[in-house]
Amino acid sequence: MLLGAATSAHQIEGDTYNDWTLWERKGKAPPVGEACNSWERMEEDIRLLLKIGANAYRFSLEWSRIEVEEGLFNIRNLLRYRRFVDALLEAGITPILTLHHFTNPVWFYESGGWLRRDAPEIFGRYADLVSRYFGDVKLWITINEPNVYAYRGYVVGDWPPGERSLSKALRVIRNMLRAHSEAYAAVKANVRRASVGIAHHLRVFTPVGLLGRIPALLREYLFNFVPVFSEVSGEIPPPVALMERINAGGDFIGINYYTRDRVRFSLLQPFGVEVLPEGVWRNSLGWEVYPEGLYVLIKRYNFKRPVLITENGIATEDHSERVRFVREHLKQVKRAKGEGMDVVGYLYWSLLDNYEWLEGYSAKFGIFTRDRRSKGDFNLSDQYFRDSVS
Ligand code: NOJ
Repeated sequence: MLLGAATSAHQIEGDTYNDWTLWERKGKAPPVGEACNSWERMEEDIRLLLKIGANAYRFSLEWSRIEVEEGLFNIRNLLRYRRFVDALLEAGITPILTLHHFTNPVWFYESGGWLRRDAPEIFGRYADLVSRYFGDVKLWITINEPNVYAYRGYVVGDWPPGERSLSKALRVIRNMLRAHSEAYAAVKANVRRASVGIAHHLRVFTPVGLLGRIPALLREYLFNFVPVFSEVSGEIPPPVALMERINAGGDFIGINYYTRDRVRFSLLQPFGVEVLPEGVWRNSLGWEVYPEGLYVLIKRYNFKRPVLITENGIATEDHSERVRFVREHLKQVKRAKGEGMDVVGYLYWSLLDNYEWLEGYSAKFGIFTRDRRSKGDFNLSDQYFRDSVS
């Protein structure tokens, strides 16, 4: 089983320049600054991975570093990632490469971004170029959390580009699913035996009261079901599209799991309102910690395919709470495996404390601090964790 950690480029590399940078400069998000300086120091991150007994590492390529202008690729930067992958392989760590993790090149963003009609082809071309250089990388994630990206950027509007339009959000989701399908085909053509999928953000929606079932079901359908179903069936269902055919893709189901929402019916809000009861386990951002949800989602969304837990983590100042969190979630993985689910890996979010988008550096998800100091015991190959998965 793959056991390791996950990160993303903008959140750890430092000195990135993309659409999120513009958002920061507008004062809409804290400045990322040098982050964990991983662009310079990524090889040191391998040392940390070895320290925690990891055999896998999920990280992302920063698209804006690679396609610097439309159709113009910076191969030097691409080769920097190439050297990193060489070092990972040499250390015996399986690289899991993400092509898109929320941020976009400025040229793409300013020309319409994910609303562009040709966004899927543009993304496909980028995936094609990149995958030619990484023929030995077997695990690929095309897009991270398309549902969250569309929701925050185009419904809530607190992420770039700050739109509040359901119809635009649906267009963006549609384009991202099409883009996944383009990228899927490109990677499969270039990399023999590659396994390619999306990292889906899945949540548990628990109804509060009888009527709460209505908004809970709506959320479940739109947020969880539509993206996963589109990926596995190759058809995008309403309201995103009218069963539009895309190339099916999804060799595994990638699940990012953090929390559940308890949802109550509201006449004013079709998606209901969230209820926050006292006394439940929460992380430092106030999200409910609900380990059983991981089991529920693996069972509900595996579609008879291998499942990769592409992210699971807790923001906390208390490292022993993190250890307990991982243990409790791994127990749920074991439970699912015991019932025949093919869970192939678990990646903790995150290796390092890093830039948590609007929350900046206040949320501490890391096993290590930003300057790579240890926070205490954490070793995925310890009996302590092994017992919970095998
Ligand atoms: C999911 C996202 O992929 C990642 O960027 C984020 O930092 C974590 N969740 C924690 O919120």
